[in-house]
Amino acid sequence: MRHSFLLAALTASCYAVAAESERQCRCAPSDQCWPSRQDWGSLNSTVNGQLISTEPLAIACYAGPEQDTDECQNVDESWSNAVFQSGDPIGLSYPVNITCPPVNATAGEQPGSCSLGKQPLYAVNATSEGHIIAAVNFARSRNIRIVIKETGHDILGRSEGGASLLIWTRYLRNGVEFIENYQSPCSESCNARSWSGAAIHIDGGYTWADVYPVAKQNGRVVVGGGTPSVSSTGGWMQGGGHGPASRQFGLGADQVLSARIVLADGCIITASPCENQDVYFAIRGGGPGTYGVVLSTVIKAWPNVDVQVQSLAIAPLSNNSALLDAIATLYSAYPGLNDAGYAGYGTWSIASPTPIFGNFTAAYVHGFYTFNQTIEDGQNAFAPTLEKLLPANGTSLFVSVSYNSFDDYWSFYEDVARAEPPVGTSSALGSRLFSRSSVQNDTAGLRSMVETVAGAQNESTSNNFELVSGGRVFEDASDLYSGLNPAWRKSYFSNIVARGWAPGSPENVKSAVRRDITYNKVAAMEQQAPDTGVYMNEADRLDPNWQRNFYGDHYDRLLEIKRRRDPGGVFYCPTCVGSAEWEEDDEGRLCRVL
Ligand SMILES: Cc1cc2nc3c(=O)[nH]c(=O)nc-3n(C[C@H](O)[C@H](O)[C@H](O)COP(=O)(O)OP(=O)(O)OC[C@H]3O[C@@H](n4cnc5c(N)ncnc54)[C@H](O)[C@@H]3O)c2cc1C
Ligand SMILES: *[C@@H]1O[C@H](CO)[C@@H](O)[C@H](O)[C@H]1NC(C)=O
Ligand SMILES: *[C@@H]1O[C@H](CO)[C@@H](O)[C@H](O)[C@H]1NC(C)=O
Ligand SMILES: *[C@@H]1O[C@H](CO)[C@@H](O)[C@H](O)[C@H]1NC(C)=O
Ligand SMILES: *[C@@H]1O[C@H](CO)[C@@H](O)[C@H](O)[C@H]1NC(C)=O
Ligand SMILES: *[C@@H]1O[C@H](CO)[C@@H](O)[C@H](O)[C@H]1NC(C)=O
Ligand SMILES: *[C@@H]1O[C@H](CO)[C@@H](O)[C@H](O)[C@H]1NC(C)=O
Ligand SMILES: *[C@@H]1O[C@H](CO)[C@@H](O)[C@H](O)[C@H]1NC(C)=O
Ligand SMILES: *[C@@H]1O[C@H](CO)[C@@H](O)[C@H](O)[C@H]1NC(C)=O
Ligand SMILES: *[C@@H]1O[C@H](CO)[C@@H](O)[C@H](O)[C@H]1NC(C)=O
Ligand SMILES: *[C@@H]1O[C@H](CO)[C@@H](O)[C@H](O)[C@H]1NC(C)=O
Repeated sequence: MRHSFLLAALTASCYAVAAESERQCRCAPSDQCWPSRQDWGSLNSTVNGQLISTEPLAIACYAGPEQDTDECQNVDESWSNAVFQSGDPIGLSYPVNITCPPVNATAGEQPGSCSLGKQPLYAVNATSEGHIIAAVNFARSRNIRIVIKETGHDILGRSEGGASLLIWTRYLRNGVEFIENYQSPCSESCNARSWSGAAIHIDGGYTWADVYPVAKQNGRVVVGGGTPSVSSTGGWMQGGGHGPASRQFGLGADQVLSARIVLADGCIITASPCENQDVYFAIRGGGPGTYGVVLSTVIKAWPNVDVQVQSLAIAPLSNNSALLDAIATLYSAYPGLNDAGYAGYGTWSIASPTPIFGNFTAAYVHGFYTFNQTIEDGQNAFAPTLEKLLPANGTSLFVSVSYNSFDDYWSFYEDVARAEPPVGTSSALGSRLFSRSSVQNDTAGLRSMVETVAGAQNESTSNNFELVSGGRVFEDASDLYSGLNPAWRKSYFSNIVARGWAPGSPENVKSAVRRDITYNKVAAMEQQAPDTGVYMNEADRLDPNWQRNFYGDHYDRLLEIKRRRDPGGVFYCPTCVGSAEWEEDDEGRLCRVL
């Protein structure tokens, strides 16, 4: 850990800050209270010149001083690359509203209009903890909305917002360090499940691509995202965090042994099972961007394992009804398969815009795996399910199953589990967690739900399922300081349904698709699994019942922590705990709801 002199000076004075005034609205650029250029300039000096005046990513495509043909082509070609978006202070993987689209000049496209939209106006490109403290103190004392962002991968609009100052953590990089023998700072008496073993200290805004090599070099496994470009300490972890190893070793939030956080008052605290337990609980699954800015974490590092992979592919030979029957059969089999050690990811559609395998645009595929077993163990566990599928093979279905194995986790990860999906700009999505009873007690209901989420033949709807829970995720229910949605402790998998629209569709078409997702497809899943919930990081941003669905029984406790630790509402994001107390106007200005 590197503590600069500046940081010491800033933290020493952090308690002196006056209590929040209960102002009704945050300042926006059209308000008198918006800081002057000089004010922004003095913030810039405090942050060593790291203040950026933001611009639309595709500004080079539009008339004006920034216009640049080559740069415009570069932006257009790189637009769908999530890592490229992450490199820009306001780049996003799932923008709510693209107000400055890239222009393909080669295709003869003409630039339309370009504006910043509801994006932060300034960004602190933080490279030290002191920069983050300075940004929090400036925004709080000036009554400015704060947005926190690391990668911009958020799907719910939680790392964007107008009339705001962005705290951009991507370049906070104090090192990723392997710890062979982790020593808990806690005494026996603080009632924590202690961790003895290896750990990794992630000191800054690193992605999994930065952390995995450290685990691999030391022969350990860490639970991180399948996608290496998601952040390790940001929204992924704070909202839950699943990955290829989560069934075996637990969800991302439950890996965190301790964390350092800048709170709304500008103070840095350490949160662990024996200090600041309320914040420790809240940041471990209680939602991102809500309680403070997470600066660093220490996470569990697990022994390496060998991995056995099962690849299953199913396609219909006549109509889709046998395919949907097979999907319902498989969904009801997941709890048993998971109890036998299976985990993994898959996708299916009846009308995919691109083939799912071979030339099939209607199909189901999954890559499941077991750890530390034999292929035979896996085949035995799968036998009863295969028996149900085989009678249709060659008549109404094509069914293919194959197995292979890897000697260690990282060769498996790189070969099978690693995925870097493109930016999503033309779809709406929602999801639901499924328990055993929700897929086994009412098979007719399940089959009918599958039919509903499949969508119509003339839509482009697809489903992605994530068998990432069970196992250690269920065992970790005994963790006293896990803020995760309790629905995880009884749900084996999440199903995400996404429906696209044609590029350039008018607003009424888009909103019809969004309504179909919220009130038809997600509602059908909720009806089938009324007692579970939703994985908040991969959820419908328009969920009318997000408090209950995203946070479950933990909502009230989290709200109490939010009010205690951030009484002025310095940190805000849509669908985050306490956000119902604010409303956003056309300028992005937040005002309190009475
Ligand atoms: C391509 C892609 C792949 C994905 N793969 C997975 C996956 O394998 N498993 C999985 O569980 N989820 C996955 N997700 C969902 C992912 O968990 C969420 O998008 C998550 O919000 C990303 O967090 P981030 O910090 O990288 O993104 P950001 O957009 O930077 O931030 C997301 C949220 O976290 C807050 N935040 C960021 N940094 C901090 C910080 N330091 N302190 C406090 N708050 C912070 C932001 O304010 C915002 O609310 C994926 C998403 C995408 C786009
Ligand atoms: C902040 O200062 C740096 C260095 O002087 C300068 O390059 C940058 O443009 C300034 N930012 C703003 C928003 O003025
Ligand atoms: C731009 O248009 C050209 C010509 O139609 C096409 O070949 C190219 O792939 C397009 N670029 C992008 C990024 O879509
Ligand atoms: C998208 O942004 C534009 C420009 O700011 C605005 O006119 C439009 O209403 C926005 N659309 C939505 C759906 O928010
Ligand atoms: C942010 O800061 C880092 C580290 O100094 C620098 O490499 C990067 O170019 C900066 N990004 C922007 C957009 O200014
Ligand atoms: C793998 O299984 C063996 C026994 O079958 C056990 O001793 C070992 O601890 C397991 N390894 C891991 C990493 O789970
Ligand atoms: C896929 O191609 C095979 C021949 O290679 C053909 O028999 C089959 O009908 C095709 N299937 C679809 C769904 O187009
Ligand atoms: C679908 O195909 C099955 C046989 O594979 C047949 O029994 C059924 O009648 C067909 N349904 C429709 C709607 O065509
Ligand atoms: C399904 O049938 C095909 C062709 O008849 C065969 O090649 C394949 O192995 C069968 N699938 C399974 C899982 O047995
Ligand atoms: C599902 O069925 C099991 C076994 O019959 C029963 O114990 C359980 O309560 C049922 N669950 C629901 C939600 O109906
Ligand atoms: C799909 O077909 C249905 C019924 O034929 C029609 O009502 C609907 O508008 C169509 N949807 C699209 C996106 O074309």
